[in-house]
Amino acid sequence: MQIQENISLKAYNTFGIDVKSRYFARFNTTDELFELISDSRLNTTNSRLILGGGSNILFTKDFDGIVLKNELKGIELVNEDDEYYYVKAAAGEVWHSFVLHCIQQNYAGVENLSLIPGNVGATPIQNIGAYGVEIKDVFYSLEAYHIHDKIVQTFYLNDCAFDYRESIFKNKWKDQFIILNVTYQLRKNSKLNTSYGSIQQELDKMGITELSIQNISQAIINIRSSKLPDPKIVGNAGSFFKNPIVSKFKWHVLNEEYKKVPAHSSDQYNYKIAAAWLIEQCNWKGYRKGDAGCNPLQPLVLVNYGNANGKEIYDLSEEIIQSVRNKFGIELEREVNII
Ligand code: FAD
Ligand code: EPU
Repeated sequence: MQIQENISLKAYNTFGIDVKSRYFARFNTTDELFELISDSRLNTTNSRLILGGGSNILFTKDFDGIVLKNELKGIELVNEDDEYYYVKAAAGEVWHSFVLHCIQQNYAGVENLSLIPGNVGATPIQNIGAYGVEIKDVFYSLEAYHIHDKIVQTFYLNDCAFDYRESIFKNKWKDQFIILNVTYQLRKNSKLNTSYGSIQQELDKMGITELSIQNISQAIINIRSSKLPDPKIVGNAGSFFKNPIVSKFKWHVLNEEYKKVPAHSSDQYNYKIAAAWLIEQCNWKGYRKGDAGCNPLQPLVLVNYGNANGKEIYDLSEEIIQSVRNKFGIELEREVNII
């Protein structure tokens, strides 16, 4: 285990932002992690960043602390009952590889979450979601290391305060815990979910007549690949903003004026509006200034065409927030973690 100094983080974030970290180390075992946390050379810095795939981060400046790259590996079937398989995955496993493993083993429930970049350890942090499924729907428990108290704690579903792109690890316990592993509860008899967006349309296009978790996963891979930029080609971190939640009254007022504002019911009193639509209406779709831009196919995704720095992407996000506020009186909230 080696602690490196002044390391470029360009290869470690999907925006491809070239900043430096004062210290950088990888851990492959929990013992290595515990050693790193106690290392006296690092006592001078309070800043620690636990890094997975770097696919939900925007670095706006050099990081004056230590980046700890989580490389814990392992997938294990730990229990089963009549309905479920309980599968434990180490935090450093690549999420999509885990999804493919589940599909191969016929463990159902994560197929709609195919092709989301990043690692297992980050999946509960913002309760990742796509195509009608969120992590909370398949979550059983996780083990996390408390940095200050130096103990490993178990969290069950009701401990995590999961919500739309939210969890207790983004709020109350932000930067307090390092997630070591997650146990998912996966169905023996699949409950296939094809109701969201264009899944059924894509399945029809594929000529699928018999549904399975395999072909739902493939349909979702096809849809995602057709509109989301591949970070290996164009830097991005997926949706830069959350879809804003507004009162039903506010939505009705907007709909009177603009007609067919894309939204769906969030709960009894509120609607979740498509931020992509708000941004498009403010003429940002396809916008580019230098190497910072707003994706032409899905404007909720901000992109780095090559050499943009984090500040340029951040400034663009600020301009977008202001214009959506001015035009619609709606406040967009960033989904990406700004460092
Ligand atoms: P990182 O970016 O490395 O970290 C994110 C945050 O979690 C940081 O604050 C980090 O410190 C913290 N963290 C990471 N691992 C740990 C750990 N083990 N313990 C404690 N803290 C930790 N997200 C969705 O929800 N749905 C989507 O459909 C989706 N699509 C995307 C498409 C693209 C093309 C891209 C680039 C991103 C997309 N995302 C999506 C966002 C991103 O993939 C997810 O948020 C993912 O879970 C981030 O994982 P990561 O390992 O890259 O996390
Ligand atoms: N739309 C436009 N203009 C566009 C594109 C979309 O007006 O150019 C409108 C359309 O009405 C469309 C709607 O926006 O129906 C929603 O678009 P899409 O289905 O692409 O989904 P999204 O709401 O923009 C969310 C998640 C994605 C997730 C998809 C699929 C958030 C912030 N984003 O995007 O998650 O993959 O749904 O479930 O909730 C991420 O979090 O990084 C992410 C990519």
